Parts: sequence; C-alpha cells; structure tokens
Amino acid sequence: MANDLEALRHETLQALKEAVTRSEWDAVRVGVLGRSGKLTMLLRQLGQCSPEERKARGQELNRLRDELTSLVEQRGKEIEELALQSRLEAERVDVTRPPVLAPQGLIHPISRTIEEMTILFAKMGFNVAEGPDIETQWHNFSALNTPDHHPARTEQDTFYLPPANDDSEAQVLRTQTSGVQIRTMLTQSPPIRIIAPGRTYRADHDATHSPMFHQCEGLVIDRDVTLGHLKYCLIEFLRAFFDKPDLPVRFRPSYFPFTEPSMEVDIGWSRQSGELGAGADWLEVLGSGMVNPRVLANCGLDPSEWQGFAFGMGIERLAMLKNGIADLRSFYESDLRWLRHYGFPVLSDIAAMGGR
Ligand code: DAH
Repeated sequence: MANDLEALRHETLQALKEAVTRSEWDAVRVGVLGRSGKLTMLLRQLGQCSPEERKARGQELNRLRDELTSLVEQRGKEIEELALQSRLEAERVDVTRPPVLAPQGLIHPISRTIEEMTILFAKMGFNVAEGPDIETQWHNFSALNTPDHHPARTEQDTFYLPPANDDSEAQVLRTQTSGVQIRTMLTQSPPIRIIAPGRTYRADHDATHSPMFHQCEGLVIDRDVTLGHLKYCLIEFLRAFFDKPDLPVRFRPSYFPFTEPSMEVDIGWSRQSGELGAGADWLEVLGSGMVNPRVLANCGLDPSEWQGFAFGMGIERLAMLKNGIADLRSFYESDLRWLRHYGFPVLSDIAAMGGR
C-alpha cells in the first residue's frame, strides 16, 4: 500500500480507538469518509492520475474505503454499547435498599383541634370570626357586663398594657375570646352565627394553667333562639368532637356576667379510668348561657327583638381530653419528641370526622 494511504489508515484506526462518545466517533467518520473527508478527496483526485496508475491506486483506495467503513461501523456499535452500559449503571435501582423518607412536618394538636372545631361548627352554619389579642377593657370586660370591681379585672389575672393614646384607658391582653362577640355584634347585623377561636392570656402558670392559652367562643343571635337550641348545638358538638354518639352531657346552673341564665356544661367520665362517656363522674368542659339583654343593648341590639346564646371553651382542655395529653405546659415546650408523638400528619383525613 502507498505510504500516504498507510498513514491515513493508521491515523484513522488511532482516532477511532480514542473516540468514546458518539460525537467524537462521528467527527472521525466525517473527517475520513464524509463528503470532504480525507479518503473521499483522494478518490476524487484519481482522475488526475494516468490510466495505469489510476487502476492500481483505485483498487487500493477502494479496499481501504471498504476496510475503514467497516471499522467505523464496528466502533460505532461499540460506542453505543458503552453508552447503554453506563446508563444502566447510572440508573440502577436497588430495590432492597431501605427507603429514606423525606422529613415531613406535623400539625400541632392545638391547630388540629381548632380545625376540628371549625369543621364541626361549620356543619351547623357557623362562620369563624376574629379579634385582636390586645383588647380594650371595654371590649374585654365592660361591654360584656363585667362590673368594675369584678375579680377578673385584678392585676393578678390580667396583663395590662399602656393605653393606645393619652386619653384612653389601659389596654389588656384579652383574658377571654368573649370580646369577639362584642366586635361581631357591632359590625354585623343579625342573624349571627360565629365561633371565635384564638389566643387568650392570664397571669397564671402551673400544670393546668399557662399564661397564654386558647379559647373558642361561640355566638348565635336571631329572633327566636331558645335554651333548647343552645343545648342541642352543644350536645351535637361534644358528641361529634369526642366521637361518642351517646356521650352523657349535663347542663349545670352557673354565673357569667354576659349570660342570663348561665350554665356550665359537663360530660360524663370515669375518674378512675379516665375514660370519657363511662362511669358516674362529671367533667366540666364549657361555659354557656343565653346572651344577657344588657350585652345586646351595649351592642345596639334591641333585646325585645333579638336574643341568642353564647358559649366558651378552653381549646387546650378539650385537646388534652381527646388526645390523652396530661400536662398543659407540654403544648408550648416545643419538644420535638412530644410533637412527633402528638402531632397530626398534614394530610390526615380531617374532613371525614364528625360525618354523622
Ligand atoms: N369567657 C368565659 C371564660 O373565659 C367562658 C364563657 C362562658 C364564654 C360562658 C361564653 C359563655 O360565651 O356564654 O371563662
């Protein structure tokens, strides 16, 4: 074989060996066998040779073209095979490997309980109302018919804050959600049906009291609302919330300045076993009553035209009873082990609850 052809053959074999990707391989192929490839150019130059030369060189060139074409093809297949191998290697799935679960947040039992309450009262036509945590004494006490000398106003129970401006009285961190009743009656016209879940504050701290805790208030105002409606509504709620269709519920006379008559609501349980709905003991869970006509009048509603009922409950207390949580302070300690134990998965089926 002529020297130049030997050199071309050698150079091409070397380049093919070094080509590992498809594009490197393609560059070698085009560079030799393509339209302006080295070998193609040599074939084109044949016309310039004398007839004798042309025959011998033509045969050599054709042989070399056949050889290089088949070597290029062969290398192409090898490269494809290599690419497949490395893909299989990279995408290998070890089905026996233990799964690594992405960390997932949980819903705090207080948030979950508020959601449950909201859903259950929504089924009875209640909307959610909100009010500020920093409240005026008028909304928190006076409008709710709480006399100036009432013990709830004392410094021990109530956190007082500086007045909003020079000529107003001191503000308070709201001690109850009942002030949202006032705000609602002042801004909405009856019929009214709201619950108001939210934070409340009292200067108190032990296993059953926290300086910040949560309440859920309820208010219904309409023309012909009776104590019967109040009882029905709260019995329905408590039985659905605790998921016990025949949970015993007892209404016991009591006193709140903003309701007349007032009642505390107890549920049946066993002191000994702690089981709800069993045994002969009673556990207080709610305050309630018919809205005091003075409160209606304070909000500009005519008590001869409108009446209603109200109720209030501690969210922590209900969450503790339902979920077997012993110490109220644990809600706020941010102990991750506690949260993992008592928290609720984000997508757990809350909507199905109380579907009776
Ligand atoms: N505000 C009361 C408390 O903090 C709870 C309460 C009792 C709210 C009776 C009411 C009610 O609306 O009617 O102890």
